[in-house]
Amino acid sequence: QQTLASGTDFTSETVLITAGGTREAIDPVRFIGNRSSGRMGFAIAEAAQRRGARVILICASTTIPVPAGCEVVCVSSAAEMRAAVLERLNEATIVIMAAAVSDYTVKQAATQKLKREGPRTIELEPTQDILREIAAQRNPATLVIGFAAETSDILANGRAKLERKGVDAVVVNDVSSSALGFDSSRNAGTFLTRERAVEIPAMSKSEMAGQILDEVRRLRSWALK
Ligand code: CTP
Ligand code: CA
Repeated sequence: QQTLASGTDFTSETVLITAGGTREAIDPVRFIGNRSSGRMGFAIAEAAQRRGARVILICASTTIPVPAGCEVVCVSSAAEMRAAVLERLNEATIVIMAAAVSDYTVKQAATQKLKREGPRTIELEPTQDILREIAAQRNPATLVIGFAAETSDILANGRAKLERKGVDAVVVNDVSSSALGFDSSRNAGTFLTRERAVEIPAMSKSEMAGQILDEVRRLRSWALK
């Protein structure tokens, strides 16, 4: 057990963090989900609070309890997450989108529980890209950081996402290894900006959260120069 940094370098920041995995309803009892546990987003929320930030946590489905001391908004679907993020965006000085947002939603969720009858096709339609939308409409002083879950060509895909989404940085994660990343207490990745690629070796999500915030701090001091 190591001592985790606490301090005051985020006291002037309001950090909006999304965490967990969204759920898209198929019918009243079933959904399409993903393996996100919420751990990475929660670790960033805890670290930011320890360093003095006000934290707004927009939380989808998670497997662990929400950290104390944050302003928590609970959501389920990608559409609900989008609405919650847009509603609180103007309060944030830093946005970190750690949530695993569904790329597709069910075009028409059934209002009654579906019965088991023969083969079934469920029609999906794309969700809106929340990160891209907030990066486009933010106040220019607000830093926007995304995550990128990749299984191949990690850095190239990460760079493409940085550009496509117009964000200040992406934390690129290799999610092909089951010992790291999704639903694990450890993670590794690369903090990627247009200027730098900082490798973050395998470590606990709490330690990684600290490193991510160190890099965000660095981005902030450059932005102010
Ligand atoms: N994201 C989002 N809205 C979506 C999908 C993703 O805001 N509808 C955000 C995630 O929270 C993450 C970032 O975009 O911070 C990258 O997510 P990722 O799934 O890696 O990228 P996608 O753009 O969805 O591309 P793909 O899944 O096809 O690789
Ligand atoms: Ca995606």
